[in-house]
Amino acid sequence: MTIREGNGQVPINQAQNGRDPLKFGIFMPSVSSNPNISRYKPVPDDWTFESNKQIALAAETAGFNFIFPISRWKGFGGDINYHGHSLETMTWAAGLLAVTNKIEIYSTVHVPVFNPVVAAKMGATLDHIGSGRWGINIVSGWCRPEFEMMGIEMLNHDDRYGRTEDFIKILKGLWTEEPGTFDFDSPHYTIRGGYVQPQPQRKPHPPIVNAGSSDAARDMVARQGDWSFICPTGFDDAELIAADIKARAAREGRTVRVVSMLQPIWYNDDPQRAYDEKDEVVAQADWVALNNWADGLGMESGSFDQHTREMLAFGAGSPPLLGSAEDVAEGIAEYYRRGVDGVLMAYNRYLEDTIKFGNEVVPLLRKMGLID
Ligand SMILES: Cc1cc2nc3c(=O)[nH]c(=O)nc-3n(C[C@H](O)[C@H](O)[C@H](O)COP(=O)(O)O)c2cc1C
Repeated sequence: MTIREGNGQVPINQAQNGRDPLKFGIFMPSVSSNPNISRYKPVPDDWTFESNKQIALAAETAGFNFIFPISRWKGFGGDINYHGHSLETMTWAAGLLAVTNKIEIYSTVHVPVFNPVVAAKMGATLDHIGSGRWGINIVSGWCRPEFEMMGIEMLNHDDRYGRTEDFIKILKGLWTEEPGTFDFDSPHYTIRGGYVQPQPQRKPHPPIVNAGSSDAARDMVARQGDWSFICPTGFDDAELIAADIKARAAREGRTVRVVSMLQPIWYNDDPQRAYDEKDEVVAQADWVALNNWADGLGMESGSFDQHTREMLAFGAGSPPLLGSAEDVAEGIAEYYRRGVDGVLMAYNRYLEDTIKFGNEVVPLLRKMGLID
């Protein structure tokens, strides 16, 4: 495949109305059996902190912009007990921020589990550990057994987003207003004289992500978020979702940027092998785990309704990018042209592929003008 630039010889990000360079990050194995809901494992599964640390350091060296965890409290069973081991992501981020220097590191917080003052305090601490490199993914929660385990009642879908919006307003208030002066009243929270000191170093506050894609999620992120992370079925779906979220934000007088999940597999000497490997992932799907995961998500969310169950076996629904390094770079460029501002990638061989991406795909993205 020939690498195309944006507009003749003009680098893509200049051709696209002065857009920021593409951001690229890794959807980390902070949980076991990531990324596929499948028995197919080309290398042994490794969710340990040491493994996450090695990947974070390799990603930093390779120039990745950020790493992003999955937050889980309970596994989904099946032979692989999908996500049965999971590292808590505030403490996970603390450890990784302390051993890295440049890369941004996110935590994922379930709104029903944390008091917002506690989350704001932990977030400010993480921001200080990383000298302004920490960000937060604030999710409403969809996995009923996790909350039942904790005796926490789940609200109905759209009310969950109302509560998430209040949670974000409180974080912003605690992080930006004079400590001790912030009051907040809603059906979900009462805050009196909210005090978080130190506040984050990053101004106005650490970046706020939401990773829902229902109507309620899109409206909420348009009003409150900085980034929306999405899981489209492919280019057309990504273009529609990105345009819709950006239009909703524009109506609020705001800018929200969009990051798409992606799962690349590439072999320069034998691109067909990437397609065969994806088929193998699906052929070896762990249907018990997959159905437990997908039934929960299907019942509790307004998203993933465009995905077939087979699509969910591969990277939990991440759109594949298959072939050679050039095919992967071109695919990423196409997502960018379609309005996606960043990509969140999962890999079948996390450490090896992080290094390989740095050596083989990053130079192509740079040549195309997608990254600096
Ligand atoms: C990139 C990405 C990351 C996500 N991370 C988590 C997570 O760590 N924990 C979780 O419970 N849900 C996670 N979700 C699920 C979403 O928060 C959301 O509940 C789900 O996509 C359903 O969307 P909806 O609530 O808008 O219907 C993630 C979704 C995406 C696309």
